[in-house]
Amino acid sequence: MAQKLIAQKLAQIGQSGVLRFYDKLDMEERERLLGQLDALDLGMIVNLIETQVKVKAPLALPTDIQPVTTYPRAPRGDQKEHYAKAFARGEELLRQGKVAAFLVAGGQGTRLGYDGPKGEYPVSPVMNKPLFQLFAEQLLGNARTYGKTIPWYIMTSDANDSATRAFFQRHRHFGYDEKDVFFFQQGMMPAFSLTGEMLLAEKDSLALSPDGHGGSLRALMKSGALADMKRRGVEHLSYFQVDNPLVHCMDARFLGLHDLSGSEMSSKTVGKAHALEKVGNFCMADGKVQVIEYSDLPEALAKSTNADGTLRFNAGSIAIHALRVSFIERLNAGGDLNLPWHRAEKKVPFVDANGKTVKPDAPNAVKLEQFVFDAIPLAENAIVYETDRAEEFSPVKNAEGADSPTTCRRDQVLRAARWLEAAGIDVPKLNDAPDCNLEISPLYAVSKAQLVERKPRVPAINSGQSVYLEK
Ligand code: UTP
Repeated sequence: MAQKLIAQKLAQIGQSGVLRFYDKLDMEERERLLGQLDALDLGMIVNLIETQVKVKAPLALPTDIQPVTTYPRAPRGDQKEHYAKAFARGEELLRQGKVAAFLVAGGQGTRLGYDGPKGEYPVSPVMNKPLFQLFAEQLLGNARTYGKTIPWYIMTSDANDSATRAFFQRHRHFGYDEKDVFFFQQGMMPAFSLTGEMLLAEKDSLALSPDGHGGSLRALMKSGALADMKRRGVEHLSYFQVDNPLVHCMDARFLGLHDLSGSEMSSKTVGKAHALEKVGNFCMADGKVQVIEYSDLPEALAKSTNADGTLRFNAGSIAIHALRVSFIERLNAGGDLNLPWHRAEKKVPFVDANGKTVKPDAPNAVKLEQFVFDAIPLAENAIVYETDRAEEFSPVKNAEGADSPTTCRRDQVLRAARWLEAAGIDVPKLNDAPDCNLEISPLYAVSKAQLVERKPRVPAINSGQSVYLEK
């Protein structure tokens, strides 16, 4: 869009401040700023400023919040037949190439503080494989099992897109065929001052950040990824996040339950570690499955128990979903994605009216993000399926402490030990924990069942030894 038109639009919405240094910028700088502004939906932004930035919109909690009924991990007697059918259906979908992998990797990873896309982070216990490689190998392992390529859609953001693509190039896509990996960028949102002005990070650059993992549902459409899926005959997406290497990227039973129930968006859950654990809570609220954030669920409800003492609200969200391609199309049909925006006040460095960079020591800005789980109440027949935390969830969020590389490596070793023991292999223990370092390549086995089936022949494992099961 021409500079004049953008300047006019900005003037109309009272945001001309972002052009205050424009006349002093060189051509390249001007282009950068105009490009960023052109990518924004200024009409939507002006509306958001009034409704979300200048005011803290009161939280509209549903009036009737009940626990959600989940599909248990181990089927009850009356569910066994359905589970068997679901598993067969899931396998059929995978054999037919109707499921694609969808990785969201556009986040900033500020808590981990790694200098580069989080997916590059080396995390496997023996081989130090990066997160991206672990997912690639798992998908390749599944593709081999089902005899069908699994197209892989990877969402990045402006901040990490070129680094992510270069990393995949350098590693030859970890064995994936390049034409089956589709990178696309999510949208960016400007940070606003508390009074609603868009902030500049530099004289030629807005203070932008990714628009949240919910933005993926818009970006899939805008980028042409959805059209690519339709061309390939993909009907479902298996959604996972870049920080959890334990995720089962393709789970035939989960996909089958999702498909057979006619669900447009399904989710995996784990039992919460304790009543106030900082995870979203799956609830049945106003007749719809939805996630209520830990900070929003009234404490009395979070702590309420059943007659047997178990938590009533025990279904924690671990950000693993299955989505129908037709659902994502439907969500975008109205022109824009109708998901709520979440407001957070943050410290955002900015260039002030005098051109000086200010590093605030108190929150000075509002950031807005959309969350993928807010699509669940919009889905028909949404289901929630219970999985085992130890088997499937150990994210790398922080540099140290809980949910850090240390805990994630530990949990990978614990899982490998359980799989090996199930295959009849002795694992040396010290105080009940494996006294060795273990890693099973996803190209060797993608699940405990597959490992058991392969009847691995492993020489006796000694205390302190590192063992890696390859291809
Ligand atoms: P997180 O909520 O952990 O955010 O993302 P983050 O940005 O990675 O990390 P912090 O909060 O700055 O430390 C969960 C998943 O959602 C993706 C992330 O890449 C990760 O896979 N995500 C998050 C996006 O793809 N885009 C976003 O805008 C936000």
